[in-house]
Amino acid sequence: TNAKEFPRNDMSEFRRACEKVKQFMLGDNELKTIRDRLLENMRRGLDREGHKSAKVKMLPSFVTHLPDGRECGTFIALDLGGTNFRVLLIDINEEQIDMDSQIYRVPQECMTGTGEALFDHIAKCMSDFINRMGFADRNIACGFTFSFPCEQYAINSASLITWTKGFSASDVEGKDVVTLLTEAVARRGDITVEIVAVVNDTVGTLMSCAFEDHACQIGLIAGTGSNACYMEKQSNITKLDELQDIDGKMCINMEWGAFGDDGALDEWTTEYDRVLDANSVHPTKQRFEKMMAGMYIGEIVRLILLDMCKEGIVFTEDALEILETPESFGTHMVSQIVDNQPRHFAAVQNILACADIGAIRRDCEIVHMVCDAVSRRAAYMCAAGISAIAIKIHQNRPDEYLDITCGVDGSVYKKHPTFAKLLKVKTNELVGLGIFVNFRLSHDGSGKGAALVSAVSTR
Ligand code: GLC
Repeated sequence: TNAKEFPRNDMSEFRRACEKVKQFMLGDNELKTIRDRLLENMRRGLDREGHKSAKVKMLPSFVTHLPDGRECGTFIALDLGGTNFRVLLIDINEEQIDMDSQIYRVPQECMTGTGEALFDHIAKCMSDFINRMGFADRNIACGFTFSFPCEQYAINSASLITWTKGFSASDVEGKDVVTLLTEAVARRGDITVEIVAVVNDTVGTLMSCAFEDHACQIGLIAGTGSNACYMEKQSNITKLDELQDIDGKMCINMEWGAFGDDGALDEWTTEYDRVLDANSVHPTKQRFEKMMAGMYIGEIVRLILLDMCKEGIVFTEDALEILETPESFGTHMVSQIVDNQPRHFAAVQNILACADIGAIRRDCEIVHMVCDAVSRRAAYMCAAGISAIAIKIHQNRPDEYLDITCGVDGSVYKKHPTFAKLLKVKTNELVGLGIFVNFRLSHDGSGKGAALVSAVSTR
């Protein structure tokens, strides 16, 4: 009788852990609901009236053509918004791209200080690189990959709508980032560059992938942040004031990270997602992104393990202090752990030991299960997103078989051991008959893409 009165105590730690992890497991029907809800949001974001209240912004990029292989020239490209800030020198000729680049750090105080300090820092790195490359006395065109939501009115102007990820520099929101950068370059006075194009990293990735693969119509970033873009028929973008070409297309930066900011994902939001959101740099924003991007995967795992530790399901109290420290469980650790079979507990034990967490076999099995569930949810959510895009594109030509490529860049896609495979398989399970989506890694896509767009716009 006692056992019946205390059923929880009767459950083994592993069973109790499973109970908690269950909420992260999404079945195909749930994923299809998410997919269809995103599709609805996409339509609203493109609509003349609907877009005013839409959370998924569906931003026109003013990129109307994919590269055709005739682009050429030498360009500087800047890539700001991921884990690293990069400056690149890119030479495009005869369907071939040569490049050199340098990675610069963006100190925390620049990300969250004043906008002026941030742009001064960017200009300084640019000048350093241009000098090293021996281009200081040349007038050179520059493509700027700026990976945040921007309202664009032309290819070379972009006003920041809101910061996302870890950035919050003051006095930039609502301003044209091309102007801010041009002013910072002018303050230095030691280089002559003209910023001829601004693109989102998703758009850059699509461009560079399309340069090699003509079936490429989708660009995806699965990295620090998460977002996608695709080629949409201009006649479907009814919010555009002036269509550039009624029969033509335009690349739309979806900013899908903000999907769910109106509660559309509440059914699948766990208590851990809510805590993560509340403690983040931009609470209540980017709810979809927070369920799947590299900046957050490790944090979600940490919050689950912290809760389990407090309830005596995993580790001992000794682990509490570490688990209570924000960012103590990096997404790279999740990748390393998932890379092992659950039964190879010694490897997981070592990874945990490096973070000063003592674990026995059962702890390792639970940690592995948690990491797998959080990673899987991330990949499946992303798959729901890509399947929505593929279906949207297919609706433009429903009678034809759609075989398209999605160009991808980002640390999660590149470094996580199972994400890419799960994404590919699940996307194709969710698209239904008549559609096949291929994924293609785009090396340095966001930077190269900015140069390609620059090449088109200076042609
Ligand atoms: C964030 C940004 C978006 C970017 C993505 C990937 O979601 O808002 O613009 O594409 O991160 O870097």
